[in-house]
Amino acid sequence: MAAKDITTRTASHVAIIMDGNGRWATSRGWPRLVGHRRGANKVRAIVRAAPGLGIKHLTIFAFSTENWKRSTEEVLGLMALFARYIRNEAEKLREAGVRVRFIGSRDRLDPVIQELMAGIEAKTRDCERLTLTVAINYGGRDEIARAAKKLAEDVAAGRLKPEEAGEDALAARLDTADMPDPDLIIRTSGETRTSNFLLWQSAYAEYEFTPTLWPDFTPEELAAIIDRFSRRERRFGGVVSA
Ligand code: IPE
Ligand code: IPE
Ligand code: MG
Repeated sequence: MAAKDITTRTASHVAIIMDGNGRWATSRGWPRLVGHRRGANKVRAIVRAAPGLGIKHLTIFAFSTENWKRSTEEVLGLMALFARYIRNEAEKLREAGVRVRFIGSRDRLDPVIQELMAGIEAKTRDCERLTLTVAINYGGRDEIARAAKKLAEDVAAGRLKPEEAGEDALAARLDTADMPDPDLIIRTSGETRTSNFLLWQSAYAEYEFTPTLWPDFTPEELAAIIDRFSRRERRFGGVVSA
């Protein structure tokens, strides 16, 4: 296989673990929620910049299945921020050609938020400039377990033969079924772990870790990271000829 066939240098799908809001606030003596508000503003700036950087899919980790362990005040504050973001941004995002989708388990979310999520998904369904996927109550293990359950149900009901229950069948039952895998996953705040984000989809993703706290992250830093990525060689298990 020629080199050009097995290397991809466009970060068409970028996923971000937006971490460090709490530290950003507490280091200034402010409540953690102030950091989350700054973080939400930063999402606006990054979404605006993404299409100009060649990004077609932007996936952001907003709330993990483990984040329910935080104080009630913080969890409710985050949920209120999601609701406000959707209410304020829906029309602007549609005008900017941004399709909004969500991954994660919705059942545990407040019905009002579930309605807002369904509303913005419907409103932006035909937008094609950028797909913004927001991971809320998302965990990679939870997503894989839910997909495995669907697979088992389909086999039990005779809709799928056991021998057809392979990688493609499982991937087709993930929340990300019709999305490409991420090319590049960025985590801010200096932590170098995945914290249960896109476990299945990240098999061949490149990772970038930056010490910058999410509220301090800028479109310029994103551009620099993408530039570095574009010069990396991706082999996908193959060999690149000289
Ligand atoms: C990321 O910032 C946002 C969410 C997890 C919701 P954190 O709130 O985790 O910030 P740190 O890691 O405590 O600084
Ligand atoms: C990961 O950050 C989840 C989100 C960014 C939404 P956390 O702050 O929850 O992860 P840990 O606790 O440092 O692993
Ligand atoms: Mg954190």
